[in-house]
Amino acid sequence: MEAFARQDTSLHVEGVALDAIAREVGTPAFVYSANHIRGRYTALHSAMADVPHRIHYSAKANACRGILSVLREAGSGIDVVSGGELFRALRAGFAPEDIIFGGVGKTEDELREGISAGVKLINVESLAEIELANGIAASLGRTVNLGFRVNPEVAVESAHKYTKTGEKGHKFGIPYDDVEHAASIAKGLSNVRLRGIGMHVGSQLRSLDAHRAGAERLLSLVEAVRRIAGDSLVALDLGGGLPVRYDDESEADVLGFASIARDAAKRSGLEILVEPGRFMVANAGVLLTRVLYRKRTGGTEYVVVDAGMTELLRPSHYDAYHRIEAVSRDDRAPQIVADVVGPVCESGDFFARARSVPDVAPGEYLVIHSVGAYGFVMASHYNARRRAVEVVVDGNRWAVATRRETYEDLVRHEPPVLDWRDGA
Ligand SMILES: Cc1ncc(COP(=O)(O)O)c(C=O)c1O
Repeated sequence: MEAFARQDTSLHVEGVALDAIAREVGTPAFVYSANHIRGRYTALHSAMADVPHRIHYSAKANACRGILSVLREAGSGIDVVSGGELFRALRAGFAPEDIIFGGVGKTEDELREGISAGVKLINVESLAEIELANGIAASLGRTVNLGFRVNPEVAVESAHKYTKTGEKGHKFGIPYDDVEHAASIAKGLSNVRLRGIGMHVGSQLRSLDAHRAGAERLLSLVEAVRRIAGDSLVALDLGGGLPVRYDDESEADVLGFASIARDAAKRSGLEILVEPGRFMVANAGVLLTRVLYRKRTGGTEYVVVDAGMTELLRPSHYDAYHRIEAVSRDDRAPQIVADVVGPVCESGDFFARARSVPDVAPGEYLVIHSVGAYGFVMASHYNARRRAVEVVVDGNRWAVATRRETYEDLVRHEPPVLDWRDGA
């Protein structure tokens, strides 16, 4: 079943009309299809059926509790990159042994939280982090399972330079040439055990070349690490990066990805971990927004809507394309060429430029597609805007997963009178 489809002229998500949701919860509103997410999990899991593997959904793409619950119930593990995401994962019911904790700059407190919780792997990204993790584990009287996130230093082809993470010199991971040294450091410490080796080379990768080249590089390290650290390795983490369709691109080559994983599992004898984020949730979500104004200036036609870069940063941050359509008109409705822009006081606050869109009037609703990943999680309060509501649809029913913030929420952490301390 298509998650988003028209019934007559009215766009539905699963069995629920989007304009009914908009009328009830207001706009801007993120609306997600639970069944789309289940379908994505099953597609990847089945493609890898003959590969010993575990999917750890990358919470950074969308950490809404309602979404995490759908994935947990589908059988997924989770990958987190901060103490906040760890907190969210545990609160959504993930067992510690289903959690991988990564991130390039974990603080001492965050490491302690992960080690105390007893997560499956702490993925470390530097030599200093190995020693810090060892010290914390020792102080807690524990031994911590480490994964090495390695920078495989391969060429990465991606739509935007900000979504490449596995080339030489990137801030992520242990530099490839330092990995053997890192393994010998870990070997010499009594409160860490090296269990995993992995990478994450980038996001929205239309070609599997970087995955393939990176996996080769990891496989050569596995042998070297085994010689140094003995037989402690159990997992090889291929990261995330599977692409989705934003426009008319082809679907992700899930079978090709699975064959890289199959080959890596056979040659290493290790369980394969994968950390997809975008693939799982991007096309499960739309952003519902209401047209506020139409105007024409300097030869440009503008459609001003009530969502902005505060809800969806991707167009201004990554120059990303998102399909836009009207909720209650079909494709045959008259079109105009316009810029679709938000209310934020920034010229970078746009969703589309010189785009053919329906000739909508103020009060009508638009949907911005493919916002389930890196949408709400990148929202900000800029211009003192309240974060939007998140809604999950499951068949013919729907629920508010995150309520819209109030003005009071915006100022909740500011004392009305400053409590001055003596700093002299
Ligand atoms: C370590 C790590 N794993 C997984 C992901 C998920 O990537 P994607 O959403 O492209 O699958 C990311 C995102 O950048 C990441 O940094």
